[in-house]
Amino acid sequence: MAERTFRIWRGNSEGGQFETFQTQVEEGMVVLDVIHRIQATQAQDMAVRWNCKAGKCGSCSVEINGKPKLACMSRMNSYGPDEEITVQPLKSFPVVKDLVTDVSWNYEQNKRIKPFRPRPREADGNHRMYQQDVDRVQEFRKCIECFLCQDVCHVLRDRAGRDRFVGPRFMIRLASLEMNPLDAADRIPEIRDEYGSGMCNITRCCTEVCPEGIGITDNGIIPLKERVVDRYYDPILWLWDKLFGGKKRRAGAGT
Ligand code: SF4
Ligand code: SF4
Ligand code: FES
Repeated sequence: MAERTFRIWRGNSEGGQFETFQTQVEEGMVVLDVIHRIQATQAQDMAVRWNCKAGKCGSCSVEINGKPKLACMSRMNSYGPDEEITVQPLKSFPVVKDLVTDVSWNYEQNKRIKPFRPRPREADGNHRMYQQDVDRVQEFRKCIECFLCQDVCHVLRDRAGRDRFVGPRFMIRLASLEMNPLDAADRIPEIRDEYGSGMCNITRCCTEVCPEGIGITDNGIIPLKERVVDRYYDPILWLWDKLFGGKKRRAGAGT
């Protein structure tokens, strides 16, 4: 047991400031445990969002010592024994109260994406996928919608970029649809024109903060950018797509 210093941001959409709390920390605690202890003993009106405490619901996203993190997966022993811990709400989204932000902008982006449209079944009535296609899509489906990647993306931090880029979380949702050979919809024009693939400059900051270890940039965004280039800047493939349909070719592509 040791006494530790926490600086926690308190406030609302009008503004706020950090408040300092001293509290006892025991072995095995995560940052969310400490926040709950402070809430129970010193600041009953402190707002913090959480749900599973198991790194699976994506609710407890905050910035800890300036880095986007899940509070329930941030072990106290990963910080120095005397290190002051600063906890603040995600910077890219409007504050509701204390550590809780309004992430509804993300749900609006999700609604803009053309949903899965199944291909017709094969002659024997089945759908078939190669295992490598299943694995590729499964990686993207691990997303817990914590929006840490959205928080760190500099295009979204610059609020002006929001009108032009859906952000890394939705680029991998698009990738999970576009790379699914059972899906018949074509989203490449929207990926370029409406979802803003060109805004991403592949800094990989999003990949670094993803708690699910999804290869957001290398496995999702870069292959989507390549598909945009194939479609719009490769004249032979453009002609092929016109004649035979682009999705079919892309389903077998190894991007
Ligand atoms: S790689 Fe692209 S999506 Fe990811 S943080 Fe950088 S600009 Fe944003
Ligand atoms: S891609 Fe990773 S960081 Fe982004 S919302 Fe999903 S789980 Fe969170
Ligand atoms: S409480 Fe569910 S991810 Fe942290």
